[in-house]
Amino acid sequence: VLDGFASYYEMELHQSAEALYDTVSALMDGNRAPVIDQLRIDAYELARVRKVVIIGCGTSYHAGLVGRYLVEHLARVPVEVDVASEYRYRDPILDADTLVIGISQSGESLETITALRDCQVNGARTIAITNVIGSQLSRVADGVLYTRAGPEISVASTKTHLAQIGALAMFAIYLGEIKGTLYPDEAKRRRQELAEMAPLIRTTVEREGIWRGVVEQYLLLDRFFFIGRNLLYPVAMEGALKMKELSYIAAEAYPAGELKHGPIAMLDEQAVVVALLGDDRLHDKMLSNLEEVRARGAKLIVVAPDGDQSADDLADAVLRVPPCLALHAPLLMVLPLQVLAGWMAKVRGLDLDKPRNLAKTVTVE
Ligand code: F6R
Repeated sequence: VLDGFASYYEMELHQSAEALYDTVSALMDGNRAPVIDQLRIDAYELARVRKVVIIGCGTSYHAGLVGRYLVEHLARVPVEVDVASEYRYRDPILDADTLVIGISQSGESLETITALRDCQVNGARTIAITNVIGSQLSRVADGVLYTRAGPEISVASTKTHLAQIGALAMFAIYLGEIKGTLYPDEAKRRRQELAEMAPLIRTTVEREGIWRGVVEQYLLLDRFFFIGRNLLYPVAMEGALKMKELSYIAAEAYPAGELKHGPIAMLDEQAVVVALLGDDRLHDKMLSNLEEVRARGAKLIVVAPDGDQSADDLADAVLRVPPCLALHAPLLMVLPLQVLAGWMAKVRGLDLDKPRNLAKTVTVE
């Protein structure tokens, strides 16, 4: 059943390339839009959308945060992202020109379902992004974009997170086409680039043996900080969540620029900082954030693309991923963090598939 893996967590992590590819290719209709009959909201209605709201819980919420960058960058429509259980009680401002996207792997998280329903009552149009056909969320929403990651048994999500980002990227490209921010040729090229991330995801996961040697000596430490900027900040959040839920140790995520506004006081020789170094316009700012970390004596593990040696002198360890477009980096940079969280749990003798106190589907508020 486990295909040679010791846990569903590890097996499913290794199915990420297929999860992304199957999701993206199913949302491609030849060269055209996401499959329209699933979306069930026509181009005319989408052209009217003036605000997008994305809601979800946990890992799905983090995918939504990545989605914000994708939609704002590609379609130039303002996006709000919130945790489903908070959004509902914020007395949100919604109207018929607001599109709400509810993300839920299971499609059964009560908070996401109830929040989406409330949005409908307040006049918004709604789309579900879910992995489970016929789930409650898919039935409540006006339209559905399915992720096609296959069943996810492990309580901690891995492959479905990548599939969710893939679905959001496809949606962002489609909306960009409708809004006129992307020419059809460009939209087509971007869809292809997204599908081409699948083989890169596969080769990235295959590097886990190399990563292991690099981080082995840090696995028993128990104070971790994850930092990133821009669209790598949600990736840092996801890395911290994975570590908390699998190995039960304290792990926090910060936008790298925020460190100096308080959290840096916590850094000392016992702390480990995992930093995501993207190949983007914030690269140099990130490097100066890393120098701040280094000066406090914290251990520094940097995730960086091949060929970028700018942090090698500062870092205690570097985890390499293949280079890719900055916009797609979350799909690769999350992988070493998922792998690391799994090892942290393993060296502690913990159950990777069923962390304590957690359920795969949360149907209470
Ligand atoms: C973390 C994890 C949870 C879920 C959250 C939402 O690894 O799996 O944080 O992401 O409970 O679940 P869904 O996506 O089913 O609504």
